[in-house]
Amino acid sequence: MKKVLIATEKPFAKEAVDGIKKIADEAGYEIVLLEKYTEKSQLLEAVANVDAMIIRSDIADKEVLDAAKNLKVVVRAGAGFDNIDLAAATANNIVAMNTPGQNSNAVAELAFGMMLFMARGGFDGKAGSELRDKTLGIHAYGNVGKYVAEIAKGFNMKIYAFDPFVKDSDIEADGVIPVGSVEELYKTCQYVSLHIPANDKTRNSINKDLLGLMPKNGVLVNTARKEVIHEADLLSLMEERQDFKYLSDIAPDCAAEFAEKYTGRFFFTPKKMGAQTAEANINAGIAGIKQIINFLEKGDDTFKVN
Ligand code: 3PG
Repeated sequence: MKKVLIATEKPFAKEAVDGIKKIADEAGYEIVLLEKYTEKSQLLEAVANVDAMIIRSDIADKEVLDAAKNLKVVVRAGAGFDNIDLAAATANNIVAMNTPGQNSNAVAELAFGMMLFMARGGFDGKAGSELRDKTLGIHAYGNVGKYVAEIAKGFNMKIYAFDPFVKDSDIEADGVIPVGSVEELYKTCQYVSLHIPANDKTRNSINKDLLGLMPKNGVLVNTARKEVIHEADLLSLMEERQDFKYLSDIAPDCAAEFAEKYTGRFFFTPKKMGAQTAEANINAGIAGIKQIINFLEKGDDTFKVN
Protein backbone atom coordinates (compact mmCIF):
# COMPACT_ATOMS: atom_id res chain seq x y z
CA MET A 1 0.00 0.00 0.00
CA LYS A 2 1.39 3.42 -0.97
CA LYS A 3 1.94 5.80 1.90
CA VAL A 4 1.18 9.53 1.93
CA LEU A 5 2.59 11.61 4.77
CA ILE A 6 0.72 14.71 5.88
CA ALA A 7 3.42 16.72 7.63
CA THR A 8 1.86 19.85 9.08
CA GLU A 9 3.53 21.68 11.93
CA LYS A 10 0.41 23.90 11.77
CA PRO A 11 -2.35 21.30 11.34
CA PHE A 12 -5.21 21.37 8.86
CA ALA A 13 -8.75 21.57 10.23
CA LYS A 14 -10.09 18.12 11.17
CA GLU A 15 -12.61 18.20 8.30
CA ALA A 16 -9.75 18.60 5.84
CA VAL A 17 -7.80 15.66 7.29
CA ASP A 18 -10.96 13.52 7.26
CA GLY A 19 -11.59 14.45 3.62
CA ILE A 20 -8.02 13.65 2.59
CA LYS A 21 -8.18 10.30 4.42
CA LYS A 22 -11.45 9.37 2.70
CA ILE A 23 -10.04 10.00 -0.77
CA ALA A 24 -6.80 8.18 0.07
CA ASP A 25 -8.74 5.27 1.48
CA GLU A 26 -10.89 4.92 -1.64
CA ALA A 27 -7.77 4.92 -3.81
CA GLY A 28 -6.04 2.31 -1.61
CA TYR A 29 -3.48 4.70 -0.11
CA GLU A 30 -2.44 4.90 3.54
CA ILE A 31 -2.24 8.26 5.29
CA VAL A 32 0.50 8.86 7.85
CA LEU A 33 -0.20 11.93 9.97
CA LEU A 34 2.56 14.04 11.52
CA GLU A 35 0.99 17.13 13.08
CA LYS A 36 2.38 19.81 15.41
CA TYR A 37 5.84 18.31 15.31
CA THR A 38 8.46 20.28 17.20
CA GLU A 39 11.73 18.74 16.00
CA LYS A 40 13.07 18.35 12.48
CA SER A 41 14.15 14.83 13.44
CA GLN A 42 10.47 13.85 13.64
CA LEU A 43 9.97 14.92 10.03
CA LEU A 44 13.17 13.20 8.91
CA GLU A 45 11.97 9.97 10.49
CA ALA A 46 8.41 10.23 9.14
CA VAL A 47 9.46 11.02 5.58
CA ALA A 48 11.93 8.12 5.31
CA ASN A 49 9.58 5.51 3.88
CA VAL A 50 6.61 7.33 2.33
CA ASP A 51 5.78 7.61 -1.38
CA ALA A 52 4.25 11.09 -1.23
CA MET A 53 3.99 13.99 1.15
CA ILE A 54 1.61 16.90 1.70
CA ILE A 55 3.06 19.91 3.51
CA ARG A 56 2.10 23.51 4.25
CA SER A 57 4.83 26.01 5.18
CA ASP A 58 6.82 23.06 6.51
CA ILE A 59 10.44 23.18 5.42
CA ALA A 60 11.32 20.56 2.81
CA ASP A 61 15.03 21.31 2.53
CA LYS A 62 17.83 19.17 1.11
CA GLU A 63 18.23 17.19 4.34
CA VAL A 64 14.53 16.30 4.39
CA LEU A 65 14.39 15.44 0.69
CA ASP A 66 17.62 13.41 0.86
CA ALA A 67 16.14 11.43 3.75
CA ALA A 68 12.98 10.68 1.74
CA LYS A 69 14.24 7.55 0.03
CA ASN A 70 10.88 6.47 -1.46
CA LEU A 71 9.39 9.91 -2.04
CA LYS A 72 8.14 10.56 -5.58
CA VAL A 73 6.03 13.65 -5.06
CA VAL A 74 5.71 16.46 -2.52
CA VAL A 75 2.69 18.75 -2.66
CA ARG A 76 2.75 22.10 -0.94
CA ALA A 77 -0.93 22.53 -0.02
CA GLY A 78 -0.94 26.23 -0.81
CA ALA A 79 0.53 28.76 -3.18
CA GLY A 80 4.08 29.70 -2.17
CA PHE A 81 6.69 26.97 -2.56
CA ASP A 82 9.68 28.90 -1.20
CA ASN A 83 9.82 26.32 1.62
CA ILE A 84 10.82 23.54 -0.80
CA ASP A 85 14.40 23.16 -2.03
CA LEU A 86 13.46 22.62 -5.67
CA ALA A 87 16.99 21.74 -6.77
CA ALA A 88 17.20 19.05 -4.08
CA ALA A 89 13.78 17.73 -5.12
CA THR A 90 14.86 17.48 -8.74
CA ALA A 91 18.19 15.89 -7.79
CA ASN A 92 16.27 13.23 -5.85
CA ASN A 93 13.81 12.68 -8.70
CA ILE A 94 10.97 14.09 -6.64
CA VAL A 95 8.22 16.10 -8.29
CA ALA A 96 7.22 19.21 -6.33
CA MET A 97 3.77 20.75 -6.79
CA ASN A 98 1.65 23.49 -5.28
CA THR A 99 -2.15 23.89 -5.25
CA PRO A 100 -2.59 27.40 -6.66
CA GLY A 101 -5.78 29.28 -5.90
CA GLN A 102 -7.12 26.85 -3.31
CA ASN A 103 -6.51 29.02 -0.26
CA SER A 104 -6.54 32.44 -1.95
CA ASN A 105 -9.89 33.71 -0.72
CA ALA A 106 -8.91 33.01 2.88
CA VAL A 107 -5.75 35.08 2.46
CA ALA A 108 -7.66 37.93 0.82
CA GLU A 109 -10.21 37.98 3.65
CA LEU A 110 -7.43 38.22 6.22
CA ALA A 111 -5.97 41.23 4.40
CA PHE A 112 -9.31 43.00 4.89
CA GLY A 113 -9.62 41.79 8.49
CA MET A 114 -6.30 43.45 9.27
CA MET A 115 -7.14 46.61 7.28
CA LEU A 116 -10.42 47.07 9.16
CA PHE A 117 -8.79 46.36 12.50
CA MET A 118 -6.20 49.08 11.87
CA ALA A 119 -8.64 51.56 10.29
CA ARG A 120 -10.74 51.30 13.48
CA GLY A 121 -7.74 51.80 15.73
CA GLY A 122 -7.79 48.23 16.98
CA PHE A 123 -11.39 48.78 18.18
CA ASP A 124 -10.18 51.06 20.95
CA GLY A 125 -13.36 53.12 21.23
CA LYS A 126 -12.01 56.20 19.43
CA ALA A 127 -13.10 57.45 15.99
CA GLY A 128 -11.29 55.56 13.25
CA SER A 129 -11.62 55.75 9.49
CA GLU A 130 -13.41 53.89 6.71
CA LEU A 131 -12.11 51.94 3.74
CA ARG A 132 -14.74 53.40 1.41
CA ASP A 133 -13.28 55.66 -1.32
CA LYS A 134 -9.70 54.97 -0.19
CA THR A 135 -7.09 53.95 -2.74
CA LEU A 136 -5.94 50.32 -2.69
CA GLY A 137 -2.93 49.08 -4.65
CA ILE A 138 -2.67 45.38 -5.33
CA HIS A 139 0.97 44.44 -5.81
CA ALA A 140 0.84 41.33 -8.02
CA TYR A 141 -2.46 40.38 -9.55
CA GLY A 142 -2.56 36.60 -9.13
CA ASN A 143 -5.09 34.40 -7.40
CA VAL A 144 -5.02 36.27 -4.09
CA GLY A 145 -4.84 39.68 -5.77
CA LYS A 146 -8.00 38.93 -7.72
CA TYR A 147 -9.92 38.01 -4.57
CA VAL A 148 -8.63 41.17 -2.87
CA ALA A 149 -10.00 43.21 -5.78
CA GLU A 150 -13.35 41.43 -5.59
CA ILE A 151 -13.72 42.18 -1.88
CA ALA A 152 -12.41 45.76 -2.26
CA LYS A 153 -15.22 46.46 -4.73
CA GLY A 154 -17.71 45.67 -1.97
CA PHE A 155 -16.02 48.32 0.17
CA ASN A 156 -16.16 50.77 -2.74
CA MET A 157 -12.40 51.34 -2.67
CA LYS A 158 -10.53 52.77 -5.67
CA ILE A 159 -8.55 49.77 -6.84
CA TYR A 160 -5.24 49.77 -8.70
CA ALA A 161 -2.94 46.87 -9.56
CA PHE A 162 0.57 46.33 -10.79
CA ASP A 163 1.63 43.03 -12.32
CA PRO A 164 4.03 42.87 -15.27
CA PHE A 165 2.93 39.27 -15.95
CA VAL A 166 -0.78 40.06 -16.35
CA LYS A 167 -2.25 41.86 -19.35
CA ASP A 168 -3.76 45.29 -18.62
CA SER A 169 -6.94 44.19 -20.36
CA ASP A 170 -7.33 41.27 -17.92
CA ILE A 171 -6.93 43.62 -14.95
CA GLU A 172 -9.34 46.14 -16.48
CA ALA A 173 -11.88 43.38 -17.08
CA ASP A 174 -12.15 43.06 -13.27
CA GLY A 175 -12.85 46.79 -12.89
CA VAL A 176 -9.33 47.42 -11.58
CA ILE A 177 -6.99 50.14 -12.89
CA PRO A 178 -3.64 48.75 -14.10
CA VAL A 179 -0.60 50.95 -13.47
CA GLY A 180 2.59 50.83 -15.52
CA SER A 181 5.16 50.70 -12.74
CA VAL A 182 5.53 49.57 -9.18
CA GLU A 183 6.51 53.12 -8.22
CA GLU A 184 3.24 54.45 -9.62
CA LEU A 185 1.29 51.93 -7.55
CA TYR A 186 2.94 52.97 -4.28
CA LYS A 187 2.69 56.67 -5.16
CA THR A 188 -1.02 56.38 -5.88
CA CYS A 189 -2.30 54.17 -3.09
CA GLN A 190 -2.88 54.75 0.61
CA TYR A 191 -3.24 51.01 1.13
CA VAL A 192 -0.90 48.58 -0.64
CA SER A 193 -1.60 44.87 -0.39
CA LEU A 194 1.37 42.63 -1.19
CA HIS A 195 0.94 39.41 -3.13
CA ILE A 196 4.37 38.74 -4.59
CA PRO A 197 6.15 35.41 -3.98
CA ALA A 198 9.44 35.20 -2.07
CA ASN A 199 12.26 34.40 -4.46
CA ASP A 200 15.73 35.65 -5.37
CA LYS A 201 14.24 38.61 -7.27
CA THR A 202 11.76 39.72 -4.64
CA ARG A 203 13.51 39.15 -1.30
CA ASN A 204 14.14 42.53 0.44
CA SER A 205 12.63 44.29 -2.59
CA ILE A 206 10.00 46.26 -0.66
CA ASN A 207 12.36 48.97 0.47
CA LYS A 208 12.29 52.57 1.61
CA ASP A 209 12.51 53.97 -1.93
CA LEU A 210 9.20 52.29 -2.65
CA LEU A 211 7.43 52.63 0.70
CA GLY A 212 8.50 56.26 1.00
CA LEU A 213 6.39 57.03 -2.08
CA MET A 214 3.16 56.11 -0.32
CA PRO A 215 0.79 58.98 0.47
CA LYS A 216 0.02 60.26 3.96
CA ASN A 217 -1.48 57.61 6.25
CA GLY A 218 0.01 54.85 4.11
CA VAL A 219 -0.69 51.29 5.21
CA LEU A 220 1.33 48.34 3.95
CA VAL A 221 -0.56 45.06 4.17
CA ASN A 222 1.61 41.99 3.89
CA THR A 223 -0.10 38.63 3.55
CA ALA A 224 2.71 37.41 1.27
CA ARG A 225 6.06 36.68 2.92
CA LYS A 226 8.03 38.58 5.54
CA GLU A 227 11.19 37.96 3.48
CA VAL A 228 10.11 40.35 0.71
CA ILE A 229 10.35 43.30 3.12
CA HIS A 230 13.60 45.17 3.60
CA GLU A 231 13.20 45.31 7.37
CA ALA A 232 15.91 47.87 8.11
CA ASP A 233 14.27 50.22 5.58
CA LEU A 234 10.83 49.58 7.01
CA LEU A 235 12.02 50.43 10.52
CA SER A 236 13.67 53.58 9.25
CA LEU A 237 10.45 54.63 7.54
CA MET A 238 8.36 53.86 10.64
CA GLU A 239 10.73 56.15 12.54
CA GLU A 240 10.53 59.00 10.01
CA ARG A 241 6.85 58.80 9.21
CA GLN A 242 4.57 58.74 12.22
CA ASP A 243 1.60 58.31 9.87
CA PHE A 244 2.82 55.03 8.37
CA LYS A 245 1.41 51.64 9.43
CA TYR A 246 2.39 48.03 8.79
CA LEU A 247 0.12 44.98 8.92
CA SER A 248 1.60 41.56 8.45
CA ASP A 249 0.49 37.96 8.49
CA ILE A 250 3.37 36.71 10.66
CA ALA A 251 5.70 38.97 12.57
CA PRO A 252 8.88 40.35 11.01
CA ASP A 253 12.26 39.48 12.52
CA CYS A 254 12.35 43.00 13.96
CA ALA A 255 9.01 42.57 15.80
CA ALA A 256 10.54 43.51 19.15
CA GLU A 257 11.44 46.97 17.83
CA PHE A 258 7.88 47.48 16.62
CA ALA A 259 6.53 46.45 20.01
CA GLU A 260 8.89 48.81 21.76
CA LYS A 261 8.41 51.90 19.57
CA TYR A 262 5.37 51.74 17.31
CA THR A 263 2.36 50.70 19.38
CA GLY A 264 -0.89 51.33 17.52
CA ARG A 265 0.83 51.45 14.14
CA PHE A 266 1.21 47.74 13.46
CA PHE A 267 -0.50 44.41 13.74
CA PHE A 268 1.14 41.00 13.33
CA THR A 269 -0.56 37.63 13.47
CA PRO A 270 1.09 35.37 16.06
CA LYS A 271 1.18 32.51 13.54
CA LYS A 272 0.71 32.60 9.77
CA MET A 273 -3.08 32.78 9.57
CA GLY A 274 -3.91 33.75 5.97
CA ALA A 275 -4.77 30.25 4.82
CA GLN A 276 -5.95 29.05 8.21
CA THR A 277 -9.65 28.50 7.54
CA ALA A 278 -11.50 25.20 7.35
CA GLU A 279 -12.47 26.03 3.76
CA ALA A 280 -8.92 26.76 2.63
CA ASN A 281 -7.60 23.66 4.43
CA ILE A 282 -10.22 21.49 2.77
CA ASN A 283 -9.68 23.02 -0.68
CA ALA A 284 -5.88 22.82 -0.59
CA GLY A 285 -5.67 19.49 1.24
CA ILE A 286 -8.14 17.72 -1.04
CA ALA A 287 -6.46 19.20 -4.11
CA GLY A 288 -3.16 17.91 -2.71
CA ILE A 289 -4.24 14.30 -2.26
CA LYS A 290 -5.98 14.29 -5.65
CA GLN A 291 -2.84 15.63 -7.34
CA ILE A 292 -0.75 12.94 -5.62
CA ILE A 293 -3.06 10.13 -6.72
CA ASN A 294 -3.29 11.49 -10.28
CA PHE A 295 0.48 11.73 -10.44
CA LEU A 296 1.24 8.30 -8.98
CA GLU A 297 -1.51 6.54 -10.96
CA LYS A 298 -1.45 8.43 -14.26
CA GLY A 299 1.75 10.48 -14.30
CA ASP A 300 -0.28 13.70 -14.34
CA ASP A 301 2.15 16.38 -13.21
CA THR A 302 -0.06 19.46 -13.60
CA PHE A 303 1.07 22.07 -11.05
CA LYS A 304 4.63 20.74 -11.05
CA VAL A 305 6.95 23.60 -10.02
CA ASN A 306 10.40 22.00 -10.43
C1 3PG B 1 0.56 29.89 0.94
O1 3PG B 1 1.64 30.13 0.38
O2 3PG B 1 -0.30 29.17 0.41
C2 3PG B 1 0.25 30.54 2.26
O3 3PG B 1 1.31 31.26 2.75
C3 3PG B 1 -0.31 29.59 3.31
O4 3PG B 1 0.65 28.99 4.14
P1 3PG B 1 0.20 27.91 5.22
O5 3PG B 1 -0.38 26.75 4.50
O6 3PG B 1 1.44 27.55 5.97
O7 3PG B 1 -0.83 28.54 6.10
